[in-house]
Amino acid sequence: MHAITIPEPGGPDALVWAEVPDPVPAEGEVLVEVAATAVNRADLLQRQGFYDPPPGASPYPGLECSGRVAALGPGVSGWSVGDEVCALLAGGGYAGKVAVPAGQLLPVPKGVGLVEAAALPEVVCTVWSNVFMIAHLRPGETLLVHGGSSGIGTMAIQLAKAVGAKVAVTAGSEDKLAKCRELGADLGINYREQDFTAEVRKAFGGADVILDIMGAKYLGRNVEALAVNGRLAVIGLQGGVKGELDLGRMLAKRAAITATSLRGRPLEEKAAIVAAVREHVWPLVESGAVRPVVDRTLPVREAPEAHRLVEASTHVGKVLLTL
Ligand SMILES: NC(=O)c1ccc[n+]([C@@H]2O[C@H](COP(=O)([O-])OP(=O)(O)OC[C@H]3O[C@@H](n4cnc5c(N)ncnc54)[C@H](OP(=O)(O)O)[C@@H]3O)[C@@H](O)[C@H]2O)c1
Repeated sequence: MHAITIPEPGGPDALVWAEVPDPVPAEGEVLVEVAATAVNRADLLQRQGFYDPPPGASPYPGLECSGRVAALGPGVSGWSVGDEVCALLAGGGYAGKVAVPAGQLLPVPKGVGLVEAAALPEVVCTVWSNVFMIAHLRPGETLLVHGGSSGIGTMAIQLAKAVGAKVAVTAGSEDKLAKCRELGADLGINYREQDFTAEVRKAFGGADVILDIMGAKYLGRNVEALAVNGRLAVIGLQGGVKGELDLGRMLAKRAAITATSLRGRPLEEKAAIVAAVREHVWPLVESGAVRPVVDRTLPVREAPEAHRLVEASTHVGKVLLTL
């Protein structure tokens, strides 16, 4: 098969289309013939040499894919050759074929195209596991989403609205804020011009849950923006890893902070997240309440161009790559 490889870390042109050996599905794995994959911010870091795949994972980038089941490894039941699926991956989506633990497969939801389905697994699993399984966002509560127009943000807005929560978002332009409002956001905050802490407190008295991608840079302001009993779920460190935490403010608000990365979680935890997504999120997708947001779709050989686009942050939602 062919795959996008990274012979040497570097800029977008470090991504090289090359012939590589086919993966062989191990015990409990399914071989998927990839139809499409998606660019995630983590792929940019992997390309630059800052985010190695976890032990045992494919060396090629790609944290999600859609496609057709091509073969079953030993001990797999419940899936058949030819099934249309999408999958959460620890790597290897930018390739003709990928071997996936069976617990990380999902059927393509009804009403969603095979290519479009590649936009779902990573963002749905990340948002569901953090905002709902860890931070327990409830109907009527307020969620603040940083980077509302990102792949993650566009899914977080829709899922929170679908369960009856209020949503505030930050973004860096009025165009992006308008797109977030179209997806259901109640409040859009331009982080280049406005103080998100003051805006969220003024509109909602504080955020019950914050989905944060900025890390250190926003730590203090996020704690100030939390309501009493608020939960801050950190999933990205775009603004640095080390910050100062005012435990007095946390204590007074009975607040909690969590930080997780989906890619490195054990297989059983990923399977539990995927099962929860199939139970709770797939019906919302099939009813049309939640949909994949695709900015554009390029052939996989144009992966360097796709990385440039995501790096420049001109997109809204997901950038897909077809095989
Ligand atoms: N922990 C996990 O398991 C996990 C899983 C998936 C993703 N993530 C993280 O989630 C984040 C989003 O991922 P993605 O793939 O959806 O990326 P993406 O589409 O490239 O989005 C990046 C976002 O960052 C926003 N941003 C940049 N500076 C900002 C600031 N100062 N304040 C608020 N927003 C700012 C950008 O908004 P503007 O364009 O408006 O500036 C853009 O929407 C990344 O940090 C990624 O690493 C974590």
